[in-house]
Amino acid sequence: MQDYHEFLDEILVTPERIAARVAELGAQISKDYQGEDLLVVCLLRGGITFTADLLRNMSIDPEVDCMSLTSYGVGHYATSGNVRVNLDLRTNIEGRHVLLVEDIVDSGRTLAHVLNMLHTREPASLRVCVLLDKKMRREVPVQVDYVGFDVPDKYVFGYGIDIDEHCRYLPFIASVNLNKYKKPG
Ligand code: PRP
Repeated sequence: MQDYHEFLDEILVTPERIAARVAELGAQISKDYQGEDLLVVCLLRGGITFTADLLRNMSIDPEVDCMSLTSYGVGHYATSGNVRVNLDLRTNIEGRHVLLVEDIVDSGRTLAHVLNMLHTREPASLRVCVLLDKKMRREVPVQVDYVGFDVPDKYVFGYGIDIDEHCRYLPFIASVNLNKYKKPG
C-alpha cells in the first residue's frame, strides 16, 4: 500500500475536533436515553472506531451489537446501492430502543437498507448517529438524528474509514488527492 502522505490532500477533521465532538455526542445521547434500555448497533466495519470512542463518552450503560453491511458495485468513490448483509444482529430488537452508529452517510442507500430491514423487526425506536454526513451526495432520503460533521463531496479516509481497506487506523479524517492515489493491484 502506498504511503498515505503521498495522496493526502487535506486533513478535514483533526483528532482534537473529533474528540471534542464525540464527547458532545456521547453526552447528548446519554441525556436523550437516560433511564431507557438502549441498544447501540455498530455498523461494521467503518463504524468501529467511532462506536468505540462514542461508548466511552457515554454516561449510560447500553448493550452493544454489530451488523456488517457492504455496499458495492461501482468505482472507488461511490456506492451503487447494492447492499449485502454479511453479519446480522444477535439481539432481538423488538420493543427495544436502538441507535445505529455509522461512520459516514453518502448516497444514503446503506442506511436506508438497514433502516428498512430493522423497522420490520418492530423496535420501540430506531435512531441514527453518523460521524460524517456528505449531504450533497444524498440519493435516498434518510433521517439522521445525530451528526458529527458535515463533509464536502470528497473521498475521505481515516478514523475507521478505509481507502481500499487501508488507513482505518489514522486518528484524523482526511481527503484523498485522486490524482496522486495509486490503486493497489
Ligand atoms: C461505507 C460506509 C457506509 C456506506 C456509506 O461502507 O461505511 O456504510 O459506505 O455509503 P452510502 O450512504 O452511499 O450507502 P462500505 O461498504 O465501504 O463498508 P465498510 O464500512 O466495511 O468500509
